[in-house]
Amino acid sequence: MSFTADRLLLFGATGDLSQRMLLPSLCALHDDHLIAPGLTIIGTARSDFDDDSYRNFAREALDKYLPDIRKGAIDGFLGRLKYQALDATQPDHFVTLADEIGTIDQGMAIFLSTAPSLFEPTIAGLEQAGLTGGKVRIGLEKPLGTSLGSSQEINDAVSRVFSEDRIYRIDHYLGKETVQNLLALRFANIMFEPLWNAAHIEHVQITIAETVGLESRAGYYDGAGALRDMVQNHMLQLLALVAMEPPANFDATAIRDEKVKVLRALRTVAPAETVTGQYAKGAIDGAAVPGYDDELGHDSDTETFVAIKAHLDNWRWQGVPFYLRTGKRMPGRKTEIVIQFRAVPHSIFASRGAKAVANRLVIGIQPEENIQLSLMAKVPGLDRDGIRLRPVPLDIAMDDAFAGPKKRIAYERLLLDLIEGEQTLFVRRDEVEAQWTWIDAIRAGWAEHGQTPKRYTAGSWGPSAAIALTERDGASWHD
Ligand code: BG6
Repeated sequence: MSFTADRLLLFGATGDLSQRMLLPSLCALHDDHLIAPGLTIIGTARSDFDDDSYRNFAREALDKYLPDIRKGAIDGFLGRLKYQALDATQPDHFVTLADEIGTIDQGMAIFLSTAPSLFEPTIAGLEQAGLTGGKVRIGLEKPLGTSLGSSQEINDAVSRVFSEDRIYRIDHYLGKETVQNLLALRFANIMFEPLWNAAHIEHVQITIAETVGLESRAGYYDGAGALRDMVQNHMLQLLALVAMEPPANFDATAIRDEKVKVLRALRTVAPAETVTGQYAKGAIDGAAVPGYDDELGHDSDTETFVAIKAHLDNWRWQGVPFYLRTGKRMPGRKTEIVIQFRAVPHSIFASRGAKAVANRLVIGIQPEENIQLSLMAKVPGLDRDGIRLRPVPLDIAMDDAFAGPKKRIAYERLLLDLIEGEQTLFVRRDEVEAQWTWIDAIRAGWAEHGQTPKRYTAGSWGPSAAIALTERDGASWHD
């Protein structure tokens, strides 16, 4: 049902995500008049705040995480906030919450980011308090389970009271402008699509490298690891956008139908085609950083790095490896996609001593967005000793191309879509389940073969086995 909610209910309103992302995003939307003046935001969590003390809490978060906001914007924004303390295991607390929220006739959007164990009691509490009717939609933040089975349990609990068109599963990578731009690059330009297949592409690389380590998330991260934290969701969504067939329309059903076909075409990966690592002490940007076990305070076999050689069993991508890698404590923060084209079928320059290097498209997603296509060009000269060719980049920096429009963070887009009811950038249940099916099989392979992570020095590109994963196919990571 199409409606713009005039109530936004934030579970986990005092958490890290709320402080760093949700409150700053909402404040920025408020300042740009992108949310209606009547939208009330009700925060809830266990902490014992009232409206005033929560507003003070929110002000501190905004001062810290949104330092450049216009003076005065924060005061206006704080006026929208209310707070109700709630223990999700206490059904009567939801009744009090419902009183605080008031009428939801215009529609309510819920943003749920709580511990997985609280999902079911929260849904049940909302239902009993009459907060799940047809004009309520729910956004679900990860982690939504740790396996196919546990994600199905959560999805079953949610879908018992919310229809799929009112469930908004969040993968914040889809909210990134740069990720959405993949669709524009592929489907608003004529020159890529005819080449976008196994006949012309030799391999694809997707890298999500981070310099951060465990941060303050030991409890969650050590139980998850890089495969479930980054590959199951963000990496596979990037892969789906790169590999999918052209959808007929830009709408939630058409795009998600195409993505899920890709996710279902993922071939089960043998353990030998994966590499796992865990960072040991090292240095990043010249500063010493401790190893994972030291940060954690005890020994652990959780992987903080994973590299995978994936394949899609369909016509378009038969035989094309998709090399995926993600890790913490890498030398730099970078998310990028590399499309390595095949060499020309016959080089007319070979007899004149020149070597043609195959074209490569590098799509930089973050920190900077840029698109770089390497083309072969002739080195100027009279060619008395033969012809020389060299790759030259055709380089587009998005910041320069679009200096005007304001850059928005992912959660601004996603919160606005949740409030207004636009599902295209949210993940459908069948996608999530295809993602988990593939991930569970990898983990089962690791368990069967007793595969444990190899140590790598913080500030390096992971274990040397990750380099071998591509080199033995004659490919190299784009570092
Ligand atoms: C989150 C992961 O989903 O994404 C984190 O849980 C990771 O471990 C983060 O650091 C990366 O997001 P971004 O937007 O900084 O690339």
